[in-house]
Amino acid sequence: MPQQINIAIDGHASCGKSTLAKAIAKQLGYTYIDSGAMYRAVTLYFLRHPELDFTCPPDVDEALKNIAISFTYNPETGHAETLLNGENVEALIRDKAVSSLVSQISTIAEVRRFLVKQQQELGKNKGVVMDGRDIGTVVFPDAELKIFLTANLDVRAQRRYNELMDKGMQITLEEVKQNLQSRDITDSTREITPLLQAPDAVLIDNSYLTREKQLELVMELVAQKMK
Ligand code: DC
Repeated sequence: MPQQINIAIDGHASCGKSTLAKAIAKQLGYTYIDSGAMYRAVTLYFLRHPELDFTCPPDVDEALKNIAISFTYNPETGHAETLLNGENVEALIRDKAVSSLVSQISTIAEVRRFLVKQQQELGKNKGVVMDGRDIGTVVFPDAELKIFLTANLDVRAQRRYNELMDKGMQITLEEVKQNLQSRDITDSTREITPLLQAPDAVLIDNSYLTREKQLELVMELVAQKMK
């Protein structure tokens, strides 16, 4: 079997990181891991436990002691889905309440330490495509291939809006755009591991690229790295 590599995909919210990461994983027979889903699962836990104050370190410790995140393969969709303490929360972690709070939860140092450790463990045998905000900088600083994806805000808002409409959610395009904009600001300006392009990451702006063209570009990069 050819040697496997790790592929890190970072970038702004809703610029197609997971679509690209899933396509690469499928083509290479690698495991796709959505690190954002892990932050979303922790956020859902806090929403379900209003007695715990996430700004209070002992409460955060208490929460993390009781959180186990895992993934299960769904043969119908061909993708992994997120489990929180054994419960499939894949749909719940995409809702508005979680989306509005997740950036704040992801600024908590203890939460980041807890999740980064698990993400590194998942990638230790290589053959992983992971997307997020700090994958090329913190989780896998030695990833053989790092991609930093971006697209303009209007294009991202329209894509996300279409996705949410398909899922039957009640939201306006303007609300989606505002949510993305405020997440961009929180993600890029937080003190702990803000969203940053790793110096050795390849920048791809996919505002006007088709999915096929984007995948083709990345597969060329993969082939170069595997030589
Ligand atoms: O990729 P996503 O939109 O599902 O991520 C949800 C939030 O989680 C996002 O606002 C920032 C945070 N996140 C993070 O801080 N680090 C990661 N590696 C992945 C996500």
